[in-house]
Amino acid sequence: MPSLRDAARGRILFGGDYNPEQWPEEVWAEDARLMREAGVNSVTLGVFSWARIEPHPGAREFGWLDRLMDLMHAHGIGVVLATPTSSPPPWMGARYPETLPRAEDGSVIWYGSRQHFCASSPVYRRHAAALTEDLAARYAAHPALTMWHINNEYCTHCWCDATAEHFRRWLTWRYTTTAALNEAWGTAFWSQRYDSWAEILPPRTTQYRHNPAHLLDFKRFTSDALMECYLAERDIVARHTPHTPVTTNFMPLWAGQDAWAWAAEEDVVSVDVYPDPQDSLGGQYNAMLADMTRSQAGGPWMVMEQAAGAVNWRGVNHPKPAGLNRLWSLQSVARGADAVCYFQWRQSRQGAEKFHSAMLGHSGEQGRTFGEIKRIGAELALLGPEVSGVAEAGDVAILHDWDAWWASTQEDRPSSLLSYTEVVQSWHRGLWEGGFATEFARPEADLSAFRMVAVPHLYLLTDAAIDNLVTYVRGGGTLVCGFFTGIADEDDRIRPGGMDARLRELLGIRTVHEWWPLDAGAVVECEGFEGGLWSEELEPDGSAETVAAYRGGELDGLPAVLRKGSAWYVSTLPAPEALRALLGRAAGEAGARPVMAGLPAGVEAVRRGDVLFLLHHGRGRVTVELPGPHIDLLTGAKADGSVELDRYGAAVLRSTTAP
Ligand code: GAL
Ligand code: ZN
Repeated sequence: MPSLRDAARGRILFGGDYNPEQWPEEVWAEDARLMREAGVNSVTLGVFSWARIEPHPGAREFGWLDRLMDLMHAHGIGVVLATPTSSPPPWMGARYPETLPRAEDGSVIWYGSRQHFCASSPVYRRHAAALTEDLAARYAAHPALTMWHINNEYCTHCWCDATAEHFRRWLTWRYTTTAALNEAWGTAFWSQRYDSWAEILPPRTTQYRHNPAHLLDFKRFTSDALMECYLAERDIVARHTPHTPVTTNFMPLWAGQDAWAWAAEEDVVSVDVYPDPQDSLGGQYNAMLADMTRSQAGGPWMVMEQAAGAVNWRGVNHPKPAGLNRLWSLQSVARGADAVCYFQWRQSRQGAEKFHSAMLGHSGEQGRTFGEIKRIGAELALLGPEVSGVAEAGDVAILHDWDAWWASTQEDRPSSLLSYTEVVQSWHRGLWEGGFATEFARPEADLSAFRMVAVPHLYLLTDAAIDNLVTYVRGGGTLVCGFFTGIADEDDRIRPGGMDARLRELLGIRTVHEWWPLDAGAVVECEGFEGGLWSEELEPDGSAETVAAYRGGELDGLPAVLRKGSAWYVSTLPAPEALRALLGRAAGEAGARPVMAGLPAGVEAVRRGDVLFLLHHGRGRVTVELPGPHIDLLTGAKADGSVELDRYGAAVLRSTTAP
C-alpha cells in the first residue's frame, strides 16, 4: 500500500493549497520563484477548480492545469492533486436541482458558496466520477503528481428524498427487517412504530423531540454516505495510479465523519488545524489534534491545512504573534507530522477568504509572515532527514469514539452543558500538562500496549468495548474512567443500574442512584479539589476505596473518586490542576513517565525517535536543564547542560552521549 513515505521521501512536506485560478498567469511564475525561496516542496492544486475545468457540462479545460503541473515540476515542487468535487459549478445546481442538499425543513441549500452537494444524489455522483476519471487519466503519469486529495472536508448533511431512499437502503442493510429496526429504535414510545420501510424518513423537522436512536442512525448513515462518495473517487484514482497515496482532509474533532472508519480507507491521514492564536490553550489543542490524527494514521500524518496568521471565520480574527506559527508547526512535527501545509499559498484578493492569512499575504514577500514561513521551510528541510518516517505512539491512551459522541450530544439529556469534546479536551489537557505522551484509541482496540487507559466520557459503549475494558484491567492495565460512561448500549438503550453491570463490578459500584449535573459555573466541593459540570450519587459495593468524597451539599460524604485496584472512577470533572494530579498519580502508579521531568512552566517536551523537541508555549524567557550534552539540530550549536528559550521558542535536540 502506498503511504506518506512515498510522497515525503525522507523530507517533511512543506507548502499549501495553491489556488492559481484566482490569479492571472503572470503571477504563476512569481509564485514558483517565491515558493522555491520559501522551501516549498509541495502544493495542493485543484481543490476548487471544478468550474475552471468544466465551465459547462461535459467540457474539459485542462490546458491551464497542464501548464501549472509542468511549472511546479520544473521547480521541483510536488503536487497533491485534488478532485475538485467539493464545490460543483452553478450550472450543476441550476440544471440539476436534485444535486442540491435540503435542510431538515425541506428548504434548499443553494449554490453560491461551496459544498452544496447531496452525497446521495446519483446525478452529483455521476458527474463527480466522470470528472475524477478524466483528471486521473490525464495526470496519472505526470512526474509532479505525488498524492491525491479527494474532495475537501466532507461535511454536508442532507434530508432530501434521494437521501431518504438511500437512508432506507442503509437501514435495510443494518436491520434486515422493520421489526428489528422498531426494536432497536424503541418505537413503542410515542406510537412511532414503522409499518414499512417506505415510511421511514431522515429525521426532518418535527413537532416535538426526535427519536434519539433515529438521530443516532442518521449520523452513522451520513458519515457512511459521504464515505461512499470518497471511496468511489478513491477507487478511480487508485486504478490509474496504484502506487500514489490517497488522502482526504479531515476537519479535526468534527462530528460528521467517523474518522476511525475513514482513516482505515486512506493511505495518508491528513487534517486541517486552526487553533485560535488568542487561546492560552491553543498549544494544548494543537497537541491534542496531532495526537488524535497520529493515532488515526497509526504512523506519520499530514497537516494539510493550518493558517500562517489569522483566519476569517471567527468573530474576532487574531493574527499569530511572531514565533507562534513556527512553534505550532514544530509541535506537529514533534508529534509525528511528515507534512506541514497551509491554507493557502497566496492570500486571495476577492471572495469570502480575502482576510484569511496565507503563506504569502497581502503584505507580500517583505511581510513578517512570509519571513517566518521562510524560516520554517528552511528548518523543516533540516529536520526531514532526522525524523521523517518515524512516529512515536504514546504509552497512555484516551478512548474516543464517534458513536458515543453522537449519542451523547442529543437533545434530551441530564445536562445540555455536557460537551463531549470539552470533556475530552480537559482530560487530554491533564495528561499534556503532566507531560505524558498520549495516544487516542477506539474503545474496541487492542489496549494491551498502553500503561494506562483514560475514558473521559463514553456515554455509549458496545458490549465488545465493555468486555475489552474488563479484559484490559484483568490483564493488569490501569483504567481511569470518567463520569456518565457505559450508560447506553449501541442502540442507545439505557443499561440498568445507572451504568453497565460489568463496568460497575469492575469499578466497585453497586448502583448509580442519580446524576446530579451542575449549573454553568457552579462547583461541587470534593476532598482536596472542586468539581464542575457533573456529579453523581454513587453507592459503592464495598470492594472499592474512596479516593475523595464529596463535601457538603446533597452528596456530602459520598464518593466522588473511587478506585478498585487499578480501576479508577471519577464522577465529576475535577478542576484542571486536580485532574492533572489525579491522572498523573494513576499514570505514575501504572509505570508511565512524563517525557521529561522538572520542566519550567509552559515548556513541553516531546520525543520523536531519538530527537527531543522542547517547545515553549509561554511568554517569558526560560532555561531548560538538559540531561547530558546535546546538539541543536536547527543551529548546529552544542547544547551542554541547558538551553534558553524565548517566548514561543523551540529547540530540537539530539543527545551526543553515546548510547
Ligand atoms: C478549511 C478549508 C479551506 C479554507 C480554510 C479556511 O475549512 O478546507 O478551503 O476554507 O478552511 O480556514
Ligand atoms: Zn439530498
